[in-house]
Amino acid sequence: MKFYNNILETIGNTPLVKLNKIAEGISATVLAKVETTNPGNSVKDRMAVKMVEDAEKAGILKPGGTIIEGTSGNTGMGLALVAIIRGYKLICVLNDKQSKEKMDILRAVGAEVVVCPTAVEPSDPRSYYQVSRRLAAETPNSWYVNQYDNLSNRLAHYESTGPEIWEQTDGKITHFVVGVGTGGTISGVGKYLKEKNPNIKIWGIDTYGSVFKKYKETGIFDENEIYPYITEGIGEDILPANVDFDLIDLFEKVTDKDAAVYTRKLAREEGIFVGNSAGSAIKGILQLKDQLKPEDVVVVLFHDHGSRYVGKIFNDEWMRERGFLDENIKTAADIVAKHQDAPLISLYSEELVSHAIAKIRKFDISQIPVMKDGKFVGSIDDSKLFQTLMDHPEMKDAPLSSIMNEAYPIVKEATTLEEISKLISKSTPAVLVELANGSHHIVTKYDIISAMV
Ligand SMILES: Cc1ncc(COP(=O)(O)O)c(C=O)c1O
Repeated sequence: MKFYNNILETIGNTPLVKLNKIAEGISATVLAKVETTNPGNSVKDRMAVKMVEDAEKAGILKPGGTIIEGTSGNTGMGLALVAIIRGYKLICVLNDKQSKEKMDILRAVGAEVVVCPTAVEPSDPRSYYQVSRRLAAETPNSWYVNQYDNLSNRLAHYESTGPEIWEQTDGKITHFVVGVGTGGTISGVGKYLKEKNPNIKIWGIDTYGSVFKKYKETGIFDENEIYPYITEGIGEDILPANVDFDLIDLFEKVTDKDAAVYTRKLAREEGIFVGNSAGSAIKGILQLKDQLKPEDVVVVLFHDHGSRYVGKIFNDEWMRERGFLDENIKTAADIVAKHQDAPLISLYSEELVSHAIAKIRKFDISQIPVMKDGKFVGSIDDSKLFQTLMDHPEMKDAPLSSIMNEAYPIVKEATTLEEISKLISKSTPAVLVELANGSHHIVTKYDIISAMV
């Protein structure tokens, strides 16, 4: 009989898969280390087991204890599997940027999930770094994993991921490329490979909104580099102890949009259904392709499974809302197609200025056409309302007809984006599109800008 004694024994020995269509523009051979075949569907299973084993050996994790960790989900999943097999409780602290799927999956394997706001400083008591520490201090017989500074994280990759890549490429690997979060993967694999062959280049993929690239290039921890971003799993606003900057030859930043678009391409062009950081990594290699030669062998590591992103990157509506879908928008009809089901919000010229303010607030919009006897007779926008109330506060009880601007121009469905943009100006922030069924939709300056990027 051939079987494993428990699920943890199935971790590792993940496949190396050649990338074909998506890597067409790259002269080198590009091989993907696809980590989704681990039982927790991510590379993080490897370090989760190692961190727990080392904590047990050090006597800081005791039988029946509670494991506490701030995790973007994948480490939590790995820890959940170890906790089940070894009899520990697990509390995972996540930030609210993480996908709902990741949270549901953690709960499915018995973890308690605590969600914290993303948009706060790491030192803020509400941040997931601080909440994890506080819970660890308050919970008896608990152990705070701290994957950022726990060096068993990178050691796991030094002991398993690195040797696998070396053996699978028969020592022919010339470049290792991977997204960097805690730094465990890049530093562990990088150390092993550089010990085998110091000429191997180690490239880290970073994201806009993270400190890594600038820190590597200048030695400056620049707080101006920190701002919220969408990409999950990579980039940081701290310098984790697991990132060994000396081992990393360069960092390349990839935009949120490109990361999302290339994650979808991996699924559709290669049949490799992987997560957000995989899209960043392959796009990063494409950005750096001029540094590669035909004889080079590049290994890129894909951290996790695409199923964790079905409500986000693999959801057209989510992509569209962020302007990530490259839709071929040429005419007024293409723009209104996005909000065809939403009714046109309008006001009557006899309505009071205060009604217009209420409507703008209720629907969170800036421009509204004004009607009389079924016809468009004027328009009102937030800047006009602001100016009126600043100059004459008593006007809030005046009819709109006394302050409204001119009616928005009406265009046909076939009117091109270029023609519409000529009509849009400071005094005309929107146009109305007349549909074939006689109804109207609004196209604003903001819609035009969104369609252009
Ligand atoms: C999806 C994903 N990509 C990339 C990373 C970064 O890996 P590491 O923490 O080993 O640098 C992580 C880890 O948090 C991850 O979950």
